[in-house]
Amino acid sequence: MKHFLDLADWTADDVYKLLRLALKLKDEWLEDGNKPVLKNKALGMVFQKPSLRTRVSFEMAMQHVGGHALYLSPQEIGLGKRESTADVARVLGGYVDIIMARTFAHQHILDMARWSPVPVINGLSDYNHPCQGMADLLTILEEFGQFDGLHMAYLGDSNNVTTSLLMGAAHFNIKMTVAAPEGYQPAQDVIDKARQLGRGKLDVAVTTDPVAAVEGAHIIYTDTWTSMGQEEEADKRRAVFPPYQVNADLLGHADKDAIVMHCLPAHRGEEITDDVADGPQSRLFPQAENRLHAQKAILVHLMAEAAVKDKKRKKDKKNKKKNK
Ligand code: CP
Ligand code: NVA
Repeated sequence: MKHFLDLADWTADDVYKLLRLALKLKDEWLEDGNKPVLKNKALGMVFQKPSLRTRVSFEMAMQHVGGHALYLSPQEIGLGKRESTADVARVLGGYVDIIMARTFAHQHILDMARWSPVPVINGLSDYNHPCQGMADLLTILEEFGQFDGLHMAYLGDSNNVTTSLLMGAAHFNIKMTVAAPEGYQPAQDVIDKARQLGRGKLDVAVTTDPVAAVEGAHIIYTDTWTSMGQEEEADKRRAVFPPYQVNADLLGHADKDAIVMHCLPAHRGEEITDDVADGPQSRLFPQAENRLHAQKAILVHLMAEAAVKDKKRKKDKKNKKKNK
């Protein structure tokens, strides 16, 4: 697979291979540092939205393997406004070796991949967040050693992060219960897609009852009630989501060894309380660190696949020039 846009585009085997590679690169980094396998390679990072984790973890991942990352802020590129996404993809792809994009409409990600001559990584769109999904799977794998028999409960707004969690769960048969108010539950086509990906084996339930959802769960996951781009709805959302807050009371209904996850940024006192976010069951910060390791694996894998094609592309360009 040339691009990394959606966990559903990849087979469970390939996702598992990426996770193994991430673990290997993490070990290597903790030992003596990574080898410069992407020496002199450049990643172009296009952002339509703000970021801490995605921006810095990609930038550091490239640095660890001898490469370079270029940050292009929302003001600079004007994806689809100053210039069409197709043109941006073709121009940027002529300068850098790989592109990461964070967008509002998912169509920008698809257009970028359609037109880019180099691999494209989805760094979050309104639809999904597959890099987050990879870091989450990595965190779960490290915690439990395997995925069999696990139950994840997702509480709150069904958003881009939920979509990627559902696809990840589908690959590895992690039971998913989503608790959200009416109107904020996963779209039927997302559930259908996850079910299809799980070849009928995915155990997924959607409920309005947060206590029922966490009963016996090994992983409690939440995210902001108001995602980037939805700021005008913040008050309306704050009125309906409080019953879904991840707090000590709710955690008491989950498995006694359950871990708590959140993609961050957290809105403490809203979707999660301080005592839970900072408590012994929280894995929020190892999870955030794992963005670095998971994405390094994605970069190394995609660049290895692209290397052969890149050689050919450059040779063709050279020949074309010679024949003129
Ligand atoms: N979780 C995540 O993607 O964080 P940023 O928005 O800070 O990149
Ligand atoms: N759902 C959140 C995730 C942030 C990483 C958002 O889209 O704002």
